Amino acid sequence: MKSYDVLIIGGGPGGYNAAIRAGQLGLSVACIEGRSTLGGTCLNVGCMPSKALLHASELYEAASGAEFAHLGIEVKPSLNLAQMMKQKEESVTGLTKGIEFLFRKNKVDWIKGWGRLDGAGKVKVTDDQGNVSDYTAKDIVIATGSEPTPLPGVTIDNQRIIDSTGALSLPQVPKHLVVIGAGVIGLELGSVWRRLGSEVTVIEYLDRICPGIDEETAKTLQRSLAKQGMAFKLGSKVTQATPSADGVSLTLEPAAGGEAQTLQADYVLVAIGRRPYTEGLGLDSVGLNTDKRGMLENQGHRTSVPGIWVIGDVTSGPMLAHKAEDEAIACIERIHGKPHEVNYGLIPGVIYTKPELATVGKTEEQLKAEGRAYKVGKFPFMANSRAKINHETEGFAKVIADAETDQVLGVHLVGPSVSEMIGEYCVAMEFAASAEDIALICHPHPTRSEALRQAAMNVDGMAMQI
Ligand code: FAD
Ligand code: NAI
Repeated sequence: MKSYDVLIIGGGPGGYNAAIRAGQLGLSVACIEGRSTLGGTCLNVGCMPSKALLHASELYEAASGAEFAHLGIEVKPSLNLAQMMKQKEESVTGLTKGIEFLFRKNKVDWIKGWGRLDGAGKVKVTDDQGNVSDYTAKDIVIATGSEPTPLPGVTIDNQRIIDSTGALSLPQVPKHLVVIGAGVIGLELGSVWRRLGSEVTVIEYLDRICPGIDEETAKTLQRSLAKQGMAFKLGSKVTQATPSADGVSLTLEPAAGGEAQTLQADYVLVAIGRRPYTEGLGLDSVGLNTDKRGMLENQGHRTSVPGIWVIGDVTSGPMLAHKAEDEAIACIERIHGKPHEVNYGLIPGVIYTKPELATVGKTEEQLKAEGRAYKVGKFPFMANSRAKINHETEGFAKVIADAETDQVLGVHLVGPSVSEMIGEYCVAMEFAASAEDIALICHPHPTRSEALRQAAMNVDGMAMQI
C-alpha cells in the first residue's frame, strides 16, 4: 500500500493545480484521474474545445459574410467541419499532454483509475482493467467536478438530444438546433452552430437570459445575439422531447402555464446547468453527505471530516475553471500550514460570444437589494476609436462605484475582446481602487481598454470622448 502526504481525486483544473502546487511545496502527492487524459471537463470537454470552436467559427462567419467583404477581402470560404473538429482535438491533446509534463516536472504521480474513499485516510483505485489498488494519505482532496444537470422528459442520448459534450462534436451542421437554457453553454455553443449555418432557437425558463449577470449587460448581449439571428423563447419550458432517427419533436409551454406548442429540431442541446459529481466516491465510508443539490459543503476548503478537503465544481461557488484553480492553491497552502483565502467577491465571469460579455463584482440588482448607494459610469464601444476602426462597436463598459467612497464595486463589459480586459479591473478591485484611480491611469491608444478608463471617468460624468 503506497502512502502520500496528499492524494487528490480528480485531474481537472481543481485537481491538477492542487497537485502541482503540492509538488512545488515538496509534498509527496498523487492525483487520481479515471479519464484517459488529464485536464478534467475544462480541457477535454469544456473551456478549451468550446473556445477552439468559437474561434474557428467566428473566423468562418467573418470570412463568409459582409465583414470580410466590407474590409475589401473577397473570399468564398467553404466549411470543412471534419478539419475544424480535428484541429480542436489536436489542440486539446496538446493541452492534456501539457498537464502530464507539468506532473512530471513537479513530481506528481498520476494514478490512473477511479478513486473511492475507503475510510479515513484511505482510497481504493479501480483501473480500466478492473484492478484495485489501495493508497493512504494524510490529506485527501476531493476535486471530482460536475456533470450536466438532466431535464425530466428530455432524455440526453447524445444522438439527437445532446449535452455540451455532444454539441462539441456534432458530425454535421444542424439545420435547426434547439438549445434549452439561455446560460453560458447555450449561448456559446448556440453561437458556434449558428455561425456555421444552423438556425438556432434558445428556450429559457426565466424571462431573461443569463440569470445572475447584470441585467442591462445581459439584455445588451441578447440584443446582439438576436440581431445575428439567434431566436429566443423566454419564459418557456420544454415538457417533452421525442427523438426520432432524423430529429426531435419538442413540446413547450409558457413557464407560467398555458397553451402548449410543438417545435421540430434536428438536434436539441440541454444546457440548464451542471451539478456536482460524487458518484461512486464512497462518501458514506467516511460519514460525508452531500446537500440537497448534491454538493459537498466546505469551510475554508475543509469538509466536516478532518483530513478531507474539497475544491472546484463539486463544492459551492461558481462552476468556473479559474475558481477551481484559486481554491486549489488556497487548499494546498492551508494543508501546508499557511493561511490562504479565496476572494469569492472577485471571481470574474466571461461569456465568449461575439460580442463577449465579462463581469466582476456586484451587479446593479445586487446593490439595490443590499440598499447600497452607488454611481454608474458607462462608455459605449461606439465611441472608442479602436473598436470603431475595427467595426466592432456593439456594447459598452460599465463601472459601478460606491456613491460615497468611489470604490469600484462592479464592472460589466459587453464588447470586443472584453475577456482579455476584465483582468485589469480584477487587479484594481483587489487593491480596492476607486473609479478615480482608474480614470487617472494612462491607457494605451488606440486600444479598446481606453473604454474602461472612459467609463471610470464617467462615474463622475467626466468621460471626455463622448
Ligand atoms: P472537472 O474539470 O470536472 O474535473 C474533475 C475530474 O475528476 C474529471 O476529469 C473526472 O473524470 C474526475 N473524476 C471524477 N470522479 C472521479 C473519481 N472518483 N476518481 C477519479 N477521477 C474522478 N469554465 C471557465 O472558467 N471558462 C470557460 O470558458 C468554461 N467553459 C466551459 C465550457 C463547457 C462546455 C463546460 C461544460 C464547462 C466550461 N467551464 C468553463 C467550466 C469548467 O470546465 C469547470 O468549472 C472546471 O472544469 C471545474 O474544474 P474541476 O477540477 O472542479 O472539475
Ligand atoms: P447556466 O447556469 O449558465 O445556465 C442555465 C440556464 O438554463 C439558466 O438561464 C436557467 O435559467 C436555464 N434553465 C434552467 N432550467 C431550465 C428549464 N427547465 N428550461 C429552460 N431553461 C432552464 O448553465 P450552463 O449554461 O449549463 O453552464 C453550466 C456551467 O458551466 C455554468 O455554471 C458555467 O459557469 C460553466 N460554463 C462556463 C463557461 C464560461 O465561463 N465561459 C462556458 C460554459 C460553461
